[in-house]
Amino acid sequence: MSEKDPFESGKSFLVGKKEELAESKRTSIMVADRFVVIIYHQGVFYAMDQHCYHAGGSLLDGDIEEIDNKLCIVCPKHKYKISLAEGEGLYKIPNSKDKDQPCWRSKGIKQRVHKVTEVDGNVYVTLSETPGWIDSDYYQSEKGRAELKIEQDLEHSKLGSG
Ligand code: FES
Repeated sequence: MSEKDPFESGKSFLVGKKEELAESKRTSIMVADRFVVIIYHQGVFYAMDQHCYHAGGSLLDGDIEEIDNKLCIVCPKHKYKISLAEGEGLYKIPNSKDKDQPCWRSKGIKQRVHKVTEVDGNVYVTLSETPGWIDSDYYQSEKGRAELKIEQDLEHSKLGSG
């Protein structure tokens, strides 16, 4: 066995014990100053940016559906579908041949996904190194975070006044 730590690059981070993360099914965590949601579904871990690329909704409580043979998380805010494995945004178009069977199309990669690795009962997240801009990056930026904060404050004040 190699003595070399496979995670010494500094881009992989221990995020917890497999048992605990699997039991909670969804975990929101800061990984190197990035908001990440870790999802455990049907025996597999996934990790992606926590705030939806569309308008920053939290994916923490999104339902998971199979769409076009892809497992997708459905953003609770406006119901956008995002594939768990790739972060692809999917949208529906009418099917002229069969109205009951919608056709799905891809908008491309919209949500940044991260790699999850299990070693000896520990779970590590390796932050995506896909170059270039991916839409969900916005909510990791200073401007995006400020926007999220304003929205959260508004929601809290509505709750407080109701
Ligand atoms: S914020 Fe996720 S669908 Fe709009």
